[in-house]
Amino acid sequence: MSDFEPIVVAFCCHYCAYGAADLAGSMRLEYPTNIRIIRLPCTGKITPVFLLRAFERGADGVYVAGCLEGDCHFIHGNLVAKPRVNYTKKLIQEVGLEPERLEMFNMSAAMGPRFAEVAREFVERIKTLGPSPLNKTYRVQSDAA
Ligand code: FES
Repeated sequence: MSDFEPIVVAFCCHYCAYGAADLAGSMRLEYPTNIRIIRLPCTGKITPVFLLRAFERGADGVYVAGCLEGDCHFIHGNLVAKPRVNYTKKLIQEVGLEPERLEMFNMSAAMGPRFAEVAREFVERIKTLGPSPLNKTYRVQSDAA
C-alpha cells in the first residue's frame, strides 16, 4: 500500500526521550509526522494495558522511549519497563500482530539526532509491515475494495 501513512504512538519519558524530541525540534531535525508522542513521567509508568490500548485505538506501531539504562531519574523505571514491553510483544503476537510493531528505545535528553533517527527508522519499519489489522481506517478502505 504505497499511500499508507502509519500512526505511531511513542510513549516518551519526560526527562530523556521527551527532552530528546524537544532537542530534535530545536535543531530543526526532520522526522516523520506519523509520530504521536505521549509524555510519561518515567517509562516505569508504562503497563501492557497502555500499550494494548494504543493498538486497540488504531496505532500501527508503538514504541516506548526512556532514559539510558542506569540513568533513569526514578532509578530503575526503564528497567521495569523493558520486560513489560517484551511481555506485551508476546501478547500482541498471540492476537496476530507482528511483535516488531512494538519496541523500546533508550536515549538521553542530549540525543536529539538519535530521537529523529529512531522515529524515521521505526516509521519505515511499520510502513514495511503495513497497516495494523486493528487500524479501522485502513481496514474499512481495504474491506470496501
Ligand atoms: Fe526516564 Fe525513568 S525517568 S525512564
